[in-house]
Amino acid sequence: MKVTVVGAGAVGASCAEYIAIKNFASEVVLVDIKEGFAEGKAMDLMQTASLNGFDTKITGTTGDYSKTAGSDVCVITSGIARKPGMSRDELLGINAGIVKMVSASLIEHSPNTIIIVVSNPMDTMTYLVHKTTGLPKNRIIGMGGALDSARFKYRLAEALEAPISDVDGMVIGGHSDKGMVPLTRLATRNSVPVSEFLSEERLEQVKQDTKVGGATLTGLLGTSAWYAPGAAVSGMVQAIACDTKKIFPCSALLDGEYGLSDLCIGVPVVLGKNGIEKIVNINLSDAEKEHLAASAEAVKNNNSSLEL
Ligand code: NAI
Repeated sequence: MKVTVVGAGAVGASCAEYIAIKNFASEVVLVDIKEGFAEGKAMDLMQTASLNGFDTKITGTTGDYSKTAGSDVCVITSGIARKPGMSRDELLGINAGIVKMVSASLIEHSPNTIIIVVSNPMDTMTYLVHKTTGLPKNRIIGMGGALDSARFKYRLAEALEAPISDVDGMVIGGHSDKGMVPLTRLATRNSVPVSEFLSEERLEQVKQDTKVGGATLTGLLGTSAWYAPGAAVSGMVQAIACDTKKIFPCSALLDGEYGLSDLCIGVPVVLGKNGIEKIVNINLSDAEKEHLAASAEAVKNNNSSLEL
């Protein structure tokens, strides 16, 4: 299994590190536009191999895509990240040009690859990759819901004063503060609905804290987060590499599912060796359906400013 990660910045390097530590890939290639940066990150990570006990070979290149040839999975993290006070949507103009160029270069050398899009605004960047590459829809996947769901579980565990491994929950919808739909109704603690333990007000607080999870970290760090995003991507790559058929909420191109079409937005999917192997239908409440529809409108509005 060969994996390419474009963008050797905070998220790309963290993603490469988690993939290596999990030891399921034979090779990870880091690509960046900054001279020597990907090579440096790769060398630094390789010097952790004997310490962390992995055999994955990590290499870096400054924009030589021939080094990425034959990649099974390619992750796109290249572009700019938001600063405190910025929304993800403000990154659209710059990142669209980068994502379009990068996806074309990747496919030139790895025509059979599966692409995971991370660059923001992620749902719109995922749609852009669909529209400009024409790859089958199962092979283009946006990462947002896996991260948002991890943040949701963190907040739920905090509110419940329970171990995170006892908590389950999922966030669907657009990867934006307003667009996220944390499914509190379906969240559980050891299979028991969390409403058994938490008041409506407390659950609403969990929901709000989840939705601003990225902004909270951007405020604290001065730039956007990287550990949880990197871990979320590595989990998705592992599900594809090891054909686990795990369910992750991912941004997928919809064609009537959830009553939505011609956009990419977060819905639960089964991930396996073919990428998105199934879009899973959940029976949503009327309020959840309404929230998802509003989220889809906002994503479509962003998509309309793409130059396709
Ligand atoms: P960063 O600034 O640390 O890294 C981005 C890297 O991309 C830089 O090293 C830069 O040199 C490189 N780059 C820029 N143009 C390039 C090109 N044409 N080819 C190759 N490399 C290029 O940013 P960070 O924090 O790693 O974030 C990356 C992206 O991921 C941002 O758009 C951010 O908003 C997004 N993000 C998305 C998340 C999600 O859940 N979908 C979560 C966290 C970040």
